[in-house]
Amino acid sequence: MWDAEAIRSGLPTKRIGHFIVALEEVGSTNDAVAKLAESGAPEGTAVVAEQQLRGRGRLGRHWESPKGVGIWTSVLLRPFIPSPQAPFLSLLAAVAAAEAIEETTSLPVQIKWPNDLFLEERKAGGILAELSVEGMSIRHLVLGIGINVNHCPDDFSVELRPSAVSLRMALGRPVPRLSLLRSLYLKLDYWYDRFLVEGSRLVLDQYRRRCLTLGKAVEVKSEDGVFLGDAVDLGPGGELLVKLPSGEVRAVFAGEATLRIERRE
Ligand code: BTN
Repeated sequence: MWDAEAIRSGLPTKRIGHFIVALEEVGSTNDAVAKLAESGAPEGTAVVAEQQLRGRGRLGRHWESPKGVGIWTSVLLRPFIPSPQAPFLSLLAAVAAAEAIEETTSLPVQIKWPNDLFLEERKAGGILAELSVEGMSIRHLVLGIGINVNHCPDDFSVELRPSAVSLRMALGRPVPRLSLLRSLYLKLDYWYDRFLVEGSRLVLDQYRRRCLTLGKAVEVKSEDGVFLGDAVDLGPGGELLVKLPSGEVRAVFAGEATLRIERRE
């Protein structure tokens, strides 16, 4: 069982994790944090659970969150930035999670745009950012982070098995979840602070280094529909810049970019 005091003790963060709620079981940690946010919880409040009964993924998907093997956590942010900039914070969370995993396991983590964590071409984690706005300003943002840590293959459903991986499966031995979670909060705190002080550039540099989507042929599903192109770069807000066959470069702010295998005749 997660021990809130052990997670928090001596954690040298400015904002993240001064108040931590550790639960045995929850519907979704994102919902638990949103509820705390509504009752005035301070920025940096975190909820972590052993198991989620209704874990959510992006694009309305279910997120498998079995007991005792993952990191299922959400963190409350209250940034003073215009609400259209909020999606950038989910890219920032992906950088933080990738660094925390690398620091704890030495496994090389890549990010598939916008915020899927990949190991050995399979998904090891993801981020779900949920925003509460008032006009153009942000009331609060919940950053939900899921990492498949100590799953054995059987801990994934049959449908997920071909495309999912855990850190333990990639490393060949179990990974200490407490060290990983503390490292995650530390990295999140570090990059969030740098972003607030210096803007997005440094985070984007780190993101680009790890992004497996850039330079690839992609199929994009976004609010503009489905289209093909080449992922050429990121814009200042983390939007994916995709060059269409016509030469036009389109900015994709939300959606999914699946890699295409180029067929050369
Ligand atoms: C995705 O890749 O689709 C995003 C997955 C996000 C999962 C995490 S686990 C903690 C938090 N609570 C949820 O219900 N979802 C996020």
